[in-house]
Amino acid sequence: MSFSAAWLTLREPYDLRARNSDVMDALLAAFDGRSSVAVADLACGTGSTLRALAPRLPARQSWRLFDNDLSLLARAPQSSPPDLNVTTVPVDLNRDLEAALDGPVDLVTTSALLDLVSEAWLERLAVEAAVRRLPVYAALSYDGRIEMTPADAADGAMVAAMNAHQRTDKGFGRALGPAAAKAAVERFERVGYSVVQGSSDWTFAPDDREIQNEILSGWAAAVREIGTVPLADVIEWLTRRRDLVAAGRSSIRVGHIDFFAAPAATR
Ligand SMILES: C[S@@+](CC[C@H](N)C(=O)[O-])C[C@H]1O[C@@H](n2cnc3c(N)ncnc32)[C@H](O)[C@@H]1O
Repeated sequence: MSFSAAWLTLREPYDLRARNSDVMDALLAAFDGRSSVAVADLACGTGSTLRALAPRLPARQSWRLFDNDLSLLARAPQSSPPDLNVTTVPVDLNRDLEAALDGPVDLVTTSALLDLVSEAWLERLAVEAAVRRLPVYAALSYDGRIEMTPADAADGAMVAAMNAHQRTDKGFGRALGPAAAKAAVERFERVGYSVVQGSSDWTFAPDDREIQNEILSGWAAAVREIGTVPLADVIEWLTRRRDLVAAGRSSIRVGHIDFFAAPAATR
């Protein structure tokens, strides 16, 4: 599955605003007083998590950014703060997760990844992080909640179909989709981590027209792909929704969850 740089750029300010501050504070507290930190950012895209965390982490930081999309990876160092040590590593995380966690790492981060992965991969992440006693910050996992205002009679069917699409294989086996964040928290607790979690919902106001249109089109495409709603209904729903956006009458909330999982001794 591929993600365009334009889409990641469009969503980044909304992601930044949505990141849960209690979860972020728990992460920062774990590194309080440290002079340096080495971070492994999984599925970095263009480096959104680096840009969100770097201003708040200890002064000396080294980041290794992992992704399998070379074009996204190439953009990450260009938009990183100049005083950081940033290395990009092309890798298929489904195949080589363990290699990404090896080496000098103090903290594992990721954002908008876990809803793409399978139960088996999540288990691997928790076990491999636990073996290395690595704290893990995972932000912005979609949790299946969508509220659109004003409501449309077809919203329920569209959201159900979209959530079914979320569970299809995105390159890691059958995806957990909306169930991923809860499953991840359970996995980390089971291997002895303490977890701070909180919601990080996107909230799009009527003026956020561009991202609303993008997201509605993306949902319609996913529903079309999964094929459970007649195409004519999908098109009519999208037309009604886009008309509301154009009229400045549409608001959308999309549920996400952030968590910080720390092995007992690091907190
Ligand atoms: C929704 S984007 C999130 C990107 C970034 N973390 C952010 O928050 O902007 C998901 C990312 O996962 C990466 N990805 C998907 N499958 C992957 C795989 N098998 N190995 C490595 N990266 C992968 C994509 O290339 C993309 O950059």
